[in-house]
Amino acid sequence: MNVVVVGTGYVGLVTAAGLAEMGASVVAIDVDAARITSLRAGRLPMHEPGLAELVSRGCSQTTLSFSTDLAGAVAEAEVVFVAVGTPSQEDGAVDLGAVEEVSEGVAQVARRELVLVLKSTVPVGTNQRIRARVAQARVPIHVVSNPEFLREGAAVQDVLTPDRIVVGCEPTDTFARRVMERLYQPFMLQNRRILWMDPKSAELTKYAANTMLALRISFMNEVASLCEELGADIHQVRAGIGSDPRIGERYLHAGPGFGGSCLPKDVAALARMARELGVGGELASAAQRVNRRQRGLLVQKLRRRFPEGLGGRVVAIWGLAFKPNTDDIREAPALDLLDALVDAGAQVVAHDPAAMPRVRQRVGRAVRLVDRPMDAVIGAHALVLVTEWRCYRSPDFRTMREAMARPYLLDGRNLWSSLGLSRLGFEYEGIGSASDGWIQDGPGPASRATRG
Ligand SMILES: NC(=O)c1ccc[n+]([C@@H]2O[C@H](COP(=O)([O-])OP(=O)(O)OC[C@H]3O[C@@H](n4cnc5c(N)ncnc54)[C@H](O)[C@@H]3O)[C@@H](O)[C@H]2O)c1
Repeated sequence: MNVVVVGTGYVGLVTAAGLAEMGASVVAIDVDAARITSLRAGRLPMHEPGLAELVSRGCSQTTLSFSTDLAGAVAEAEVVFVAVGTPSQEDGAVDLGAVEEVSEGVAQVARRELVLVLKSTVPVGTNQRIRARVAQARVPIHVVSNPEFLREGAAVQDVLTPDRIVVGCEPTDTFARRVMERLYQPFMLQNRRILWMDPKSAELTKYAANTMLALRISFMNEVASLCEELGADIHQVRAGIGSDPRIGERYLHAGPGFGGSCLPKDVAALARMARELGVGGELASAAQRVNRRQRGLLVQKLRRRFPEGLGGRVVAIWGLAFKPNTDDIREAPALDLLDALVDAGAQVVAHDPAAMPRVRQRVGRAVRLVDRPMDAVIGAHALVLVTEWRCYRSPDFRTMREAMARPYLLDGRNLWSSLGLSRLGFEYEGIGSASDGWIQDGPGPASRATRG
């Protein structure tokens, strides 16, 4: 099957490589010519585990190629994916410029009947609008909504073995349905889970899923604050509620607030949709409010710990990406912390296994970035763990304590909460618990496998 994927970002590139892996003939298109040149040379624009191998296999098997020439690629295509960015403003308004431009571009150059698949996250009603815009094309263009649920950091696995594939298309559109069934058949050998629905429901499903996840995170962050005020322990409370199958264990970890390119913008967009339609949106807005507060929590804790001020203090930060296994720093909580510390006159030294080049572009020389985690803690008055990369799980704490000017650990992910670090002479502080785990005789921080 001849497929075109427009947009070679986190979603488009993994989608293109995943489809090529399953035997489709895929051309991945981008307006960013430098990106296409790099991809052709085998250089990936982002860090995503397993993706380099997948792309390289696709290229060597010639099922995957890269181009800036939309017209040339669309000429042969049966399916064209739109996987370009849909950035949103603070108030939730979504910029559909790139989606519209690509859809209209496809309509102008299409020479055979095809399915146009909207994979970008778009407001409800976009499918209908795009259908109207491409209706004048020389050939029939069937517009389908196919929102993406991949998690950065686990995107290859999520695309190759999806837990569900949501496809929104008109019930009468048998052409689109047949094509999509054929396209996704190789992904369904273990798990036949294409969920067919109408386009509006598919569009809303994406926003509802992300808002539900954001709500869980914000709720647990609020419970963590309650724990701190009441002297309860978030790990024990989480185990107590997560063991209820109606609730489940995932996405119940307290932390420095959610970030990334999806949750913040999708929650804002759902809140806006709800407000505009007069159906409230209070829950989504509450998740945003709690998250804004939570993102200030780490610096607040630091200020409390250093009442004399943070000016001149050396603060080490481990983890800058918005989550582990990615170099994506869009809306990353670590950036709020960096900015606040720099404003307060602290000397910031930071490490991240993948995101430092992107952070360097954003902060310039205001922050010292080091290649090894331990280099960051030398002479530090505090170490703040913001992103729970595996390489931070069990550092040599004795060396660390000796290296630090003040052995204060602020564990923003409760990664070390069961280790009893006060015994080793640290001042340890996590999120949602007064205990550092030493006297804890309970569930502890639980398996990281349950982390969402
Ligand atoms: N990143 C995620 O984890 C994720 C998950 C699910 C859904 N989504 C959604 O998928 C969409 C893409 O997200 P992303 O993170 O991959 O974005 P991204 O910013 O990483 O990539 C977008 C790509 O599209 C290209 N592009 C922009 N305009 C173009 C045009 N007119 N023609 C061709 N290429 C163009 C850009 O150059 C860029 O390479 C968004 O709607 C996002 O909300 C993202």
